[in-house]
Amino acid sequence: MTFVGGGRSCVGFSFSQLEMRVVLASLLMNFTFELSEKPIHWNISAITFPSTGKDSLKPEMWLKVGRYNAE
Ligand code: HEM
Repeated sequence: MTFVGGGRSCVGFSFSQLEMRVVLASLLMNFTFELSEKPIHWNISAITFPSTGKDSLKPEMWLKVGRYNAE
């Protein structure tokens, strides 16, 4: 439903998906991603989301991001 369906659906649907893939590929090629030491708790709801620890409902998942050096 993000792009609606039927006669009024988004004509940029495939283009925006392609754009998201290009951005994701660029990020994965140039940076490294690893989990931080903070505890992750997955909250079950209509949309499952992570938070820091069991007591928080703030959607977040801390990552350590670094530069990727191919050499
Ligand atoms: C994440 C990105 C995008 C989202 C979530 C999105 C979402 C939508 C939605 C929900 C509609 C229907 C609006 C309505 O009639 O109520 C729409 C229409 C439209 N979108 Fe997108 N869109 C995105 C990207 C793009 C891009 C990249 C383009 C062009 C390159 C584009 C071009 C259009 C056009 C021209 C319409 C009108 C279609 C019509 O009424 O016949 N959109 N979009």
